[in-house]
Amino acid sequence: MMIQVPEVLTREQVAEVRRLILAADWVDGNVTSGAQAALAKRNRQLPEDSPAGKRAGEIVLDALGRNALFMAAALPAKVWPPLFNRYEGGEQFRMHVDNAVRLKRGGTERLRSDLSATLFLSDPETYEGGELTIEDSYGAHAVKLAAGDLILYPASSLHHVTPVTSGERLASFFWIQSMIRDDAQRRVLFDLDAAVQRLVAELGQGHAAVVALTGTYHNLLRMWVDV
Ligand code: NI
Repeated sequence: MMIQVPEVLTREQVAEVRRLILAADWVDGNVTSGAQAALAKRNRQLPEDSPAGKRAGEIVLDALGRNALFMAAALPAKVWPPLFNRYEGGEQFRMHVDNAVRLKRGGTERLRSDLSATLFLSDPETYEGGELTIEDSYGAHAVKLAAGDLILYPASSLHHVTPVTSGERLASFFWIQSMIRDDAQRRVLFDLDAAVQRLVAELGQGHAAVVALTGTYHNLLRMWVDV
């Protein structure tokens, strides 16, 4: 499933992240690519060990940890430290699927990429092109969100970023290993959680139906969880 998470970052946080990363040194975007993606990718990135990128990434991670919609949709077990990219002057990323497993540089820690995330850091009216286009069984979806908004989508999806023909597109991107590996199971839990939250608002936390459905949510989670 594809989920938009609005206002992950406030305007002030977007400005702070942009200030940090724009002052840093950028490199060819292929530093994190597999061999096939390297042929498809034309952009720049902050190196994974960039101090400015790490500080900006902590702002993003901190905001995600406090975002109820992100937590309910992703049910994260591990979140890859956020990376940052920029596209300008016709740069693009042609159709690809993200790597299934990420390995921390110089380390042994692995992450299975269940979900991919892009957090937009440029206002859409400041650049032309740069749509993140994601394919699923319903067709292709072009995504171009306000600065501070995030899109969460299955890492198994074919996707591409169209050429940025004017202006500059800044974004943060990262991957999530979910406690619920299966996209369809995660969707059931997300929908049930949203319905329970609506019932809580109407009936109150202590209503017998709310208590029962909350129990069902946790029992499904227990059945499927991978910790
Ligand atoms: Ni990708």
